Amino acid sequence: MPASRSIPAGIRRPRATVGALAAVAAGALVAVSFAGCGLAGPGPVSTVGKVDFDTPLAIPPLAESSVDADGTRVFSLDAQAGSTEFEPGEPSTTWGFNGSYLGPTIVAKRGEHVRVDVTNSLDEATTVHWHGMHLPAEMDGGPHQMVEPGASWSPEWDIDQQAATLWYHPHPHGETEDHLARGLAGMFQIQDDAEAALSLPREYGVDDVPVIVQDTGFSAEGEQESPQRGYAGGLGDELLVNGTRGPYLDVSDELVRLRLLNASTARSYAFAWGDGRPVELIATDGGLLEASVELDHVRLSPGERAEVLLRVTPGERVMLQSRMTPEIAGLVGPVASMNGGSDSFDVLEVRAADQLDPAPAVPERLNTIPAYAEAEVATTRPFVLDDSFEINGHAMDMGRIDETLTVDTLERWVVTNDTSLPHSFHVHDVQFRIASIDGAAPPPELAGWKDTIFTEPQTEYELLMRFEDYADPDTPYMYHCHLLWHEDNGMMGQFAVVEPGQSATMTEGTTHHEH
Ligand code: C2O
Ligand code: CU
Repeated sequence: MPASRSIPAGIRRPRATVGALAAVAAGALVAVSFAGCGLAGPGPVSTVGKVDFDTPLAIPPLAESSVDADGTRVFSLDAQAGSTEFEPGEPSTTWGFNGSYLGPTIVAKRGEHVRVDVTNSLDEATTVHWHGMHLPAEMDGGPHQMVEPGASWSPEWDIDQQAATLWYHPHPHGETEDHLARGLAGMFQIQDDAEAALSLPREYGVDDVPVIVQDTGFSAEGEQESPQRGYAGGLGDELLVNGTRGPYLDVSDELVRLRLLNASTARSYAFAWGDGRPVELIATDGGLLEASVELDHVRLSPGERAEVLLRVTPGERVMLQSRMTPEIAGLVGPVASMNGGSDSFDVLEVRAADQLDPAPAVPERLNTIPAYAEAEVATTRPFVLDDSFEINGHAMDMGRIDETLTVDTLERWVVTNDTSLPHSFHVHDVQFRIASIDGAAPPPELAGWKDTIFTEPQTEYELLMRFEDYADPDTPYMYHCHLLWHEDNGMMGQFAVVEPGQSATMTEGTTHHEH
């Protein structure tokens, strides 16, 4: 019989209210002393109306691939240092894959077998993790799959999940925030027949556009600099989209699909349109929703993705903004204003041509998302995010497996943010469903497939998931807060997926030295 752990009584609590400010301050002090971070972030930021959107949005190139004799589609990524002019004539030292900043967009189809030849041309070790991907733990690119300088690593796996917007980024233990902030990230799009049959925009870079949003700091001259820290990590006072500062996007189609990826290390966004029109959300982390949903904003914490549709009229200009409020940010009082909770940004200006290609109506039904039968839950596990910025009272230990799961059984993970500050929760290898939030059904925008969730203070999230295959007692996957500074400081744990009755072993981190 699978072990079933009980959830501590009284874990369900009302959400934090403004009246809980004292508790916020108390929790904050614990946090400060533990993580050595301050609550005094950079103070409220608004770039609305202040940015010249005069640079065409860079579109990451599509990754080239070849097909091996055995049918494997092979990509290559080379992590390298370089120099990027975010401001013409002002070079900043940055890192990228196959270039100086960010990386190419990888596109693969469900059913394909893929391999990515990863080379590390940096002078320090890194990894490449496939965020949101269902794949064997050895191929996952977490902290156990370090690639030493000059070495290469060639993970391969079957693409076995529905069409979705995933991404890749480094995951070296303790260094993830730094490696991502330097520019190592890219999008990984999965296509499938079901999505291809829908009348949706899908011409890459034309009417189906990656929008990779990151915050950073710049000197007066325009050289990139490290931003000030809040409780969540570095919070920049300017944005880059696909590495472009002040970007605009020319479109000549009536309907445009934007694939939003929050590739920031700490900042959460509340994406909305400048003229107040609703945001039409069609997909979340793991794929299409059953039907599109109109929202006044889409909140994305670091690592989360959202696909949205924008219908434009000839000649108009529409501003993608982020308009955070303390309520959306899950922060109160002065803590909010110093931690991005009242920040507003102009993000990307969409410029519609005078002549637009017409687009068909968006299909009413986009996907079928079957419910998990809770009666089939084999194991329930609590995950408590606590004031020490740990999970279940432990800091991450590469040599410890925290949870052992039986392959292909239904798991219920009860994630409780037991602190007065927002965190997040990401699980490797799987797309999960949110069964409830503080006992209530999730709103439609959280009812689809997810791999990363924003966790509000004093709130409990019940997640259902099934690790269908790839049992491996020797190699763990990770779960963690995706505020990368927290993750780097140990707000992470490890789980192994095993065959029934098997126990997990623990291996030392494997290091790849082959050239
Ligand atoms: Cu996007 Cu474990 O990470
Ligand atoms: Cu956190």
